[in-house]
Amino acid sequence: MLIAGINDGHNGSVVLLRDGRVVFAWQEERATRVKNQPGFPREALRRGLLEAGAGLGDVDIFAVASTRPISIPATLEENVRGYVMRNRSLRGRLRAFLRETPVAGWVYGYRQAAREKALVDLGLPPDRTAYFDHHLCHGAAALLGSGLSDRALVITCDGAGDGLAGTVSVAEGGRLRRLAAIPEKDSIGLLYTTATVLMGMTPNEHEYKVMGLAPYGSGPAAEGLAADLRRWIAPIHPGDLVYRRAHAAPPFTACYEPLRALTELHRFDHIAAAVQAFLEGVLADWISSCVEATGIRTVLLAGGVFMNVKANQRLLELPGVERLFIVPSCGDETNAFGAAWLAHAAREGAPPEPFGPLYLGPGVGDEEARKISRALDGDDRFQVFEPADIEEAVADLLVRGEVVARVSGREEFGARALGNRSLLADPASPGVVREINAAIKCRDFWMPFACSVLEECAGDYLENPKGMRAPWMIITFDCTSRWPEIQAGIHPHDRTVRPQIVSRADNPGFHRLLEAFRRRTGRGALLNTSYNIHGEPLVSSAGEAVDVLGRSGLRWLALGPFLIHKRSR
Ligand SMILES: [Fe+2]
Repeated sequence: MLIAGINDGHNGSVVLLRDGRVVFAWQEERATRVKNQPGFPREALRRGLLEAGAGLGDVDIFAVASTRPISIPATLEENVRGYVMRNRSLRGRLRAFLRETPVAGWVYGYRQAAREKALVDLGLPPDRTAYFDHHLCHGAAALLGSGLSDRALVITCDGAGDGLAGTVSVAEGGRLRRLAAIPEKDSIGLLYTTATVLMGMTPNEHEYKVMGLAPYGSGPAAEGLAADLRRWIAPIHPGDLVYRRAHAAPPFTACYEPLRALTELHRFDHIAAAVQAFLEGVLADWISSCVEATGIRTVLLAGGVFMNVKANQRLLELPGVERLFIVPSCGDETNAFGAAWLAHAAREGAPPEPFGPLYLGPGVGDEEARKISRALDGDDRFQVFEPADIEEAVADLLVRGEVVARVSGREEFGARALGNRSLLADPASPGVVREINAAIKCRDFWMPFACSVLEECAGDYLENPKGMRAPWMIITFDCTSRWPEIQAGIHPHDRTVRPQIVSRADNPGFHRLLEAFRRRTGRGALLNTSYNIHGEPLVSSAGEAVDVLGRSGLRWLALGPFLIHKRSR
């Protein structure tokens, strides 16, 4: 049976599930080259079916996430103004008001009818297309993606989806039983996004920058502001299954002006620290309360709010939480997994194969790499080598202090580069941060890089007393005293690290490279950041890999078994 899971909201994505196993997963942004491309993933679906050797007619079920389609702003300016104007203009206030009335139901019904017609026009037959609730998809991604079969608490939390901003469910016998839900006007995710807009950054994209800035602003000023913000949430009593907005608080669906007034004259880093502390505090109290109410200490998390890796660390540290699983790249892109898995579970009964190593996109094979490399032979900007062992050759370069792009095999799904479309460097060398930024990344000065760590060396660098699996860069940990060995790949201010723990089974080639680097230096970790030019999606094909090498200040690209050197000019 072939099932296509589809997310046509934020960050459009496709998952192809054949007999319960994910055979392909990709985001539309990689095809259109527009970061976080929203909407129907037309190209991703076409490419997936091509890779799977199937056509639209071979798909048994099109499982579409969400029952209420979102309206997609046409431009970034429109997106930003949407948040600002909800309080400022009469039209914005009217729209915010109507969202809380039955008129909203009519609008959603109209939009859904238009969406269903559009999908039929794209060739998706209505009798084989099913729509699944947004937070049910998040929850299913957590439950079925975790592979856990024992009783668990499943918490979803995001900006909003299908009218909700969070849910609490109990997983029993492979099914979710929803206990409580949080309406979107109480969304702490939307409040955080509104703060992102207030700080001059892009909503639904730059929330991680607010999080990265937060450690620099911690202190009494930020604590005072966080306490003011916390008054917007009603007290959470032990055993409560939801947090609630305080009566006097503005709806978080339209809180730009109240938030601006509250934070006025506060320093930018204090605002970031306060919003982060607020988010962490509400999540910690809410989830602790849910654990107490249910007595369940295995917690599974999904939804865009849990892209906040620092909040996730705080949640792992909660005394009531024994075991934590967080969906990798847990924004709406993984709702394509949730929808596909729900359709599979409904049809087959048996659980699907859970999340694995995530190398699920199109691949760069040796032949493609050879073709591209040969095409560069006559180009005097480049030298092409075919070393006897590419991983050993890359390790030699890294030891010499070079920054190397690695493009190999199938592309990773989601927001994180996991070694197959990565920029790598020696994490012991603080100078590489400036070099990578100058060459390609242009990151904001406060943003940290991340590390890939050999599974065998994880204990050398990470404090992980609960032994959480961390192969997807979805949580931070405190560093051990050996932090100087990975100092370029950690948050320099609070010395936390967002690791990808690399096992041989998950990625044999990347694991071999890390081992080769450890043999030479004694350090079982590499700085790992995504291979893309600032503001663009992750590089996908071999051609794009060479194109980015040409356009950036980088000098080395490991493309499959080939090593490409760009000569200095
Ligand atoms: Fe969501």
